[in-house]
Amino acid sequence: MNASLNSSGSMPAQPAPSASVAKFFALKPRLFINGEWVEARSGKTLPVYDPATGQQFGAVADAGLEDVDRAVHAARAALETGPWSTMTPAGREALLWRLAELIDRDAAEFAEIESLDNGKTRFMASIIDVPGASNYFRYMAGWATKITGTTMETSLQAPGAKFHTYVAREPVGVVAQIVPWNFPLAMAAWKLGPALAAGCTCILKPAEQTPMSALRLGDLIREAGFPAGVVNILTGLGESSGAALVAHPGVDKVAFTGSTDVGKLINKSASDTMKRVSLELGGKSPMIVLPDVDPQTVAGGASGAIFFNAGQVCTAGSRLYVHSSIFDRVLEGVSAAAAAIRLGPGLEQATEMGPLVSKEQQERVLRYIESGRKQGASVAAGGDAPSHPGYFVNPTVLVDVNPDMSVVREEIFGPVLVAQRFDDLDAVVKAANDTPYGLGASIWTNNLSAAHRLIPRIKAGTVWVNCHNLVDPNMPFGGYKQSGIGREHGRVAVEMYTETKSVCIMI
Ligand code: NAI
Ligand code: MG
Repeated sequence: MNASLNSSGSMPAQPAPSASVAKFFALKPRLFINGEWVEARSGKTLPVYDPATGQQFGAVADAGLEDVDRAVHAARAALETGPWSTMTPAGREALLWRLAELIDRDAAEFAEIESLDNGKTRFMASIIDVPGASNYFRYMAGWATKITGTTMETSLQAPGAKFHTYVAREPVGVVAQIVPWNFPLAMAAWKLGPALAAGCTCILKPAEQTPMSALRLGDLIREAGFPAGVVNILTGLGESSGAALVAHPGVDKVAFTGSTDVGKLINKSASDTMKRVSLELGGKSPMIVLPDVDPQTVAGGASGAIFFNAGQVCTAGSRLYVHSSIFDRVLEGVSAAAAAIRLGPGLEQATEMGPLVSKEQQERVLRYIESGRKQGASVAAGGDAPSHPGYFVNPTVLVDVNPDMSVVREEIFGPVLVAQRFDDLDAVVKAANDTPYGLGASIWTNNLSAAHRLIPRIKAGTVWVNCHNLVDPNMPFGGYKQSGIGREHGRVAVEMYTETKSVCIMI
């Protein structure tokens, strides 16, 4: 079964970008170092493609070792001697708030840039990515003035002496922040927001597939009035610019979102100089559907959980476990929902799902579907790519799968759902946890007791009930097991950008 009109080849063309975005794309490739726009020392550039057409629409600078070194030095100087080093928390709060307002002012342009760069629809970028980024900066602005230490009593003793002891939190220092291509602007905000609230200085490296919104953000960071060197933005490849940042001895902490394989590499490399590391990595998040729910409602929810952002979401609900009594009806509903999704280019208003981010990602996802088929899975929806230029994959539902198949075990990071039935709760808990990942999970039921009994048994950093993929700046987000180290959002995210200093004074 093929999905809707997309396989017929009648997909609309990608509309032309607005004049202001076209002008932005035409700017000379540049890096943001020490508050200035500069070229890469090598003069090398990298192409940027529109995933809806496969056509190149711009180029960015390819940061080399020298550029990385310049950025780290600028960040170090800003941390230790610049105006940032003496700025009050309220001063940092005001800057972060101003940045949020500038993003809102330019929201339409950001949504267009994000759509052209990543492939997602402009509509989704305008309701999720862009307000997600500005709201995140506003939320983190509030934390700048709320970082506190503690005082404590100790049992220290010395003749005639008393002791005053307390714990202070200080910025961890210069931070390298490496982000992926699925939510480029929002991921940049998740990284920069808490680091700047805590008083750190940053070097941000966007993904090579989607560097444009970070560069646009650089303009606003300058306009907002952040002192030179507080935020530096380097475009470049992961294995060169990214790896050089991680290895640089002048970096105190690395914060990374991306694949588990690269997360492991980064963790190893960072340990050479004992850098602090926080990692938000892959997932293979289960959705567990108990027998009491309305199959149609759950089918809609499950379809949203896997097909949102074309499945390129680290918490995508990619494994569906449905109680046998309603399996057929839920499957029918999800498959119908998949087939009805309208594929097309992101700037076209009628489009519901855009292409995947790159040719590489499209091929990777199609390879997974093929491997599932070869190992005996049946295709209930999609299963192929529309015959159209661009990196599209039809929303796919696979059944007749077993726990050993790679489509069940590995993160596909595309619009591919594997659906399985269960009869026994113990068995489904075991299956849900039978994965090296532990990022998200959802439980679908109206039975309060059943939900609360299941929640503690699921090994995942976030458990949703009757919803999936919902995140809030105040709700810690991150993974168990190989899904990562540390948590983003909330107080804990700010504290991850601090060092703890114990002070003991004999008085
Ligand atoms: P990736 O992990 O290679 O890329 C993510 C970021 O890391 C990019 O900015 C990249 O330039 C950088 N990077 C890559 N290699 C690096 C290195 N050796 N040192 C420092 N930085 C490095 O992910 P990729 O190759 O784009 O996608 C492959 C798979 O990874 C996807 O199919 C998906 O399964 C997973 N992924 C998961 C994400 C998540 O949010 N958890 C996001 C992106 C990818
Ligand atoms: Mg990679």
